Amino acid sequence: MARIIAGVGSSHVPAIGAALDNGKTEEPYWKRVFSGFERSQAWMRETKPDLAIIVYNDHASAFSVEMIPTFALGCAAEFPPADEGWGPRPVPVVQGHPALASHIAQSVILDEFDLTICNKMEVDHGMTVPMNLLFGKVDRNSHWPCPVIPLAVNVVMYPPPTGHRCFMLGRAIKKAVESFPDDLRVVIFGTGGLSHQISGPRAGLINSKWDKSFLDNLSKDPQRLVKIPHIDYMREAGAEGVEMVMWLIMRGALDDKVDEVYRFYTVPASNTAVGHIILENRRRSATSAARKPSAGKRKPAAGKHKRAAARTKVERKRS
Ligand SMILES: [Fe+2]
Repeated sequence: MARIIAGVGSSHVPAIGAALDNGKTEEPYWKRVFSGFERSQAWMRETKPDLAIIVYNDHASAFSVEMIPTFALGCAAEFPPADEGWGPRPVPVVQGHPALASHIAQSVILDEFDLTICNKMEVDHGMTVPMNLLFGKVDRNSHWPCPVIPLAVNVVMYPPPTGHRCFMLGRAIKKAVESFPDDLRVVIFGTGGLSHQISGPRAGLINSKWDKSFLDNLSKDPQRLVKIPHIDYMREAGAEGVEMVMWLIMRGALDDKVDEVYRFYTVPASNTAVGHIILENRRRSATSAARKPSAGKRKPAAGKHKRAAARTKVERKRS
């Protein structure tokens, strides 16, 4: 049986891709950003997922304003990088997984989520930048380490889907993956955000307090995030901050209880707050902790301390 073992949240700032492609990663401004993902790349190398589902938004690359699907699932065998105005990024063509993608489409659509099925689609920085941040730089003539199923979400033209709808779609994707017979270990990405506004009088808006609270509640109280209306994202996190609803698809696809194993936050990159989190389902955590001596080097999540303290308390009472 296939299963989702972990979720990754990551901003997908286009300037990060440009910095990588133009050899600027060692410049102090960009080193601050890229160094925050070094541990994430080590985690990804250690985790070695068989497949990634990447939730992102298209930025008028595959879809123009003439046609905007709310949810579009990539069912093709491959997804070439899009030309976003200065030529396609120098990254490999993304290999898909048509069998699982078609299975997800069938399961999710019969669960009453009306996805658009894309049998041909180019992918832009919204997807390839988080792939670089987690998989590292990959030569365009080489291969990404695993196949990817893209899920494009409309957050560029009103109305985007609600946070609740996104979370429930994540739940439906989890169910779909778990009913796929092949033994696949899947990581799901939610991308976009965090707070940013790219135009108008509030251009450059960053709200770190809001961002950190959002990151906290991904593990602590996701149901609180699910209830946030669009207007709150717009007011507090900027017009483009509404991209954060895509992280709720990732969160909905995980178990109720998760462990936060890594977080990184820095401002700014371009004019955007960069946020990143790795959440593991607990059965995966237990397995990985037992398997890997290096896991002990990680800073344990606060929840683990609390659980360990609670266990000690109970043991003391019994003795
Ligand atoms: Fe975006």
